[in-house]
Amino acid sequence: MSTTKSVELATPAAETFTLTENSTGRTFELPVIKGTTGPNVIDVRKLYAETGCFTYDPGFTSTGSCASGITYIDGDAGILLYRGYPIEELAEQSDYMEVCYLLLYGDLPSVEEKEKFRRDITYHTMVNEQITYFFRGFRRDSHPMAVMCGVVGALSAFYHDSTDITDPHHRMVASHRLIAKMPTIAAMTYKYSLGQPFMYPRNDLKYSENLLHMMYATPCESYDVNPVLARALRRILILHADHEQNASTSTVRLAGSSGANPFACIAAGIASLWGPAHGGANEAVLNMLEEIGSKHHIPEYIKRAKDKDDPFRLMGFGHRVYKNYDPRAKVMQKTCHEVLDELGMKDEALLELAMELERIALEDEYFVEKKLYPNVDFYSGIIFRAMGIPTSMFTVLFAVARTVGWVAQWNEMVEDPLQKIGRPRQLYTGETQRRYTPIDQRG
Ligand code: ACO
Repeated sequence: MSTTKSVELATPAAETFTLTENSTGRTFELPVIKGTTGPNVIDVRKLYAETGCFTYDPGFTSTGSCASGITYIDGDAGILLYRGYPIEELAEQSDYMEVCYLLLYGDLPSVEEKEKFRRDITYHTMVNEQITYFFRGFRRDSHPMAVMCGVVGALSAFYHDSTDITDPHHRMVASHRLIAKMPTIAAMTYKYSLGQPFMYPRNDLKYSENLLHMMYATPCESYDVNPVLARALRRILILHADHEQNASTSTVRLAGSSGANPFACIAAGIASLWGPAHGGANEAVLNMLEEIGSKHHIPEYIKRAKDKDDPFRLMGFGHRVYKNYDPRAKVMQKTCHEVLDELGMKDEALLELAMELERIALEDEYFVEKKLYPNVDFYSGIIFRAMGIPTSMFTVLFAVARTVGWVAQWNEMVEDPLQKIGRPRQLYTGETQRRYTPIDQRG
């Protein structure tokens, strides 16, 4: 029984690709494989055996690491589909539980399926009470992402009964546990940093409302969840739920390819997400906007971003895959305006600064030529800030949202009959073999 929708992985195309070794004139026929849409791939699996050469592709700019039926991106057209559904339609019409079901199981749920799934997730939201003591080992001023990596990694020590990856039931329970417990752990990292008591999840609340409750309620006072904020958070969760073979997802797959348990794999994904070139960018965008401070300073920062000798980059701009407007950034920009309007903060100086920065960058020859557009992180930080969420928690909330994507991709990998341990090779540029010199004979 498979946990996820099984995927027709790929079909060999009639065409082949011919490689010629100029020095000998030898030719090699490489099969071409077609997906359902998007670029074909050249199958190089037998390349080394037949030619004695590896491929060289640092950063994997031309490498398809797996076949996947979950998420499709057309970076030139600015299209993002989850299981075939456009992100804009899902953000507008769906809710996060439904999107989780879709990503995990491959199709939108029926009413009964959705209700069952919602219950399965809701009844896994509490964490083992012992985890509360685990938290106490961290400094109060730890970065919440540091705590997140540690606590999520530790889940495998608490939930042994769902770590047998060869058992589909274990895989399903672990998947549900991860999706359910991430908001609880995220809120606990926040409460711990404030020195406030942890709040237990509430089964009468929806996923995003429950997350806000666990972050903002206290045992002395209930917290009435603002529907505008809950809706904005739901949208942010949907927009971040999956994104094909990005750095953190590839990390989860690589960690999982050795047979590691899913809790350990997701902890590895969290570590990768933390970096400022990936999920840490939303935090970096706010820090950057605060550093720029005023519209008058924008030209100076644009100049710095274009200077090759200056490491400064315009955070929230550019993407490995999108060479067009990131479709998630468009929804995020709209949500940002809605949230600030409804909270009576439409004159928020940071939003004005962000919009002016975007306007100037999009007209600048450097950014136009390199096809650098705002990415999803450009506006999410401003929304989080308006919601009263501290900057250090931004990437944590991204991790909560992305957990379903990591879990869906991990399940797909485990069930892929072609799956092998991920073990890339290299272009060696070090010393060739040499003799050991005893220390007293070294010059
Ligand atoms: N500001 C200024 N110049 C940039 C920027 C930027 N934000 N992004 C890319 N460039 C330039 C590079 O200097 C490079 O110029 P060159 O060709 O003259 O050397 C060119 O554009 C291509 O950039 P690369 O770094 O080679 O592209 P890559 O695909 O490796 O990187 C990345 C993509 C990491 C997202 C990059 O655009 C970046 O650092 N952006 C800022 C960080 C950010 O916003 N990250 C969030 C990504 S979205 C996400 O993870 C959810």
